Amino acid sequence: MDPKAERLRAVLTAARTEVGKIIIGQESVVDLALIAVFTGHHALVEGVPGVAKTLLVRTLAQVLGAEFSRIQFTPDLMPADITGTHVFNLQKNQFNLVKGPVFTTFLLADEINRAPAKTQSALLQAMQERAVTIDRFTHRLSPNFTVFATQNPVEYEGTYPLPEAQKDRFMLKIVMNTPERDEELTLARRMLGSDSPEASLERGVAQPVITEQDLTQLRDHMAVLTVRDELLAYIVDLIRATRTHQSVLVGAGPRATQALLLASRALAALQGLDYVSPDHVKTMAPPVLEHRLILRAEYELEGLSVAEVIQDILKTVAVPR
Ligand SMILES: Nc1ncnc2c1ncn2[C@@H]1O[C@H](COP(=O)(O)OP(=O)(O)OP(=O)(O)O)[C@@H](O)[C@H]1O
Ligand SMILES: [Mg+2]
Repeated sequence: MDPKAERLRAVLTAARTEVGKIIIGQESVVDLALIAVFTGHHALVEGVPGVAKTLLVRTLAQVLGAEFSRIQFTPDLMPADITGTHVFNLQKNQFNLVKGPVFTTFLLADEINRAPAKTQSALLQAMQERAVTIDRFTHRLSPNFTVFATQNPVEYEGTYPLPEAQKDRFMLKIVMNTPERDEELTLARRMLGSDSPEASLERGVAQPVITEQDLTQLRDHMAVLTVRDELLAYIVDLIRATRTHQSVLVGAGPRATQALLLASRALAALQGLDYVSPDHVKTMAPPVLEHRLILRAEYELEGLSVAEVIQDILKTVAVPR
């Protein structure tokens, strides 16, 4: 195996193990989060309160040697509250930058749909450009700047659901379900002792497996994995099929093609392989597509779900041999 693929595999395996010392279960969630980070993208995180959304991102930051910060979005949050402002320093007779919370590496944007559009766009611009403009000065953010945004259920009053165009900026949607019974039992036992997940994280039970600089470099290592032409065509055909499916009003755009390709390749790397297979694409299609498709109202009323439509598309598009 290529040494770069080998190194990627070793780092990803170690990262999974270290995260697993804090987070009980949720293995596929951890994999999706690693995929977003190692492809240089951002993720939406969905789950009821208390399923360890915050703990997951904090743990990942610790394990990947990255700085962490969190913003709680509220209806009165202003763009400057996230980007920062220039404050005049009388003694020095100059403006000094007071950096906002986007000046970090892993940013947890909690309840992003509770802030108005202007504030959401400030974050989305930072995500897209990995830079922020404050009073006409542009400041670069970390090349590893990664946003994990949680969303409130849409029916919640006084929220501003992300417009489709903005959801498209997130590579994937990570759904965190409540734990299985045995996992919940493990959690309950740990809570009694001194090794509760949070206490363990504080004590440094999960060790960093790389530094931030390594992360930037490792991302380029993904390029050594091979993707056959037939597989590229498969990905393109899947995305195109979302636009012509009878029950879909708005299909996935070209960003989805890129996201599905890169996510499938990263999944192959996580599995220690140096090539991408159709199964990788099939596994990644739901998390990449779910938040990007809008169904026609009549189908939605009938109770059809986006997840079912994605499965239908996967059944109809011919899989390369
Ligand atoms: N799978 C899990 N592994 C480890 N700890 C867990 C797990 N699920 C829940 N917990 C525990 O539950 C508590 C809540 O976690 P956390 O604050 O990260 O949840 P959250 O999803 O961010 O909640 P909220 O939506 O309210 O912000 C923490 O104390 C955490 O230790
Ligand atoms: Mg939280």
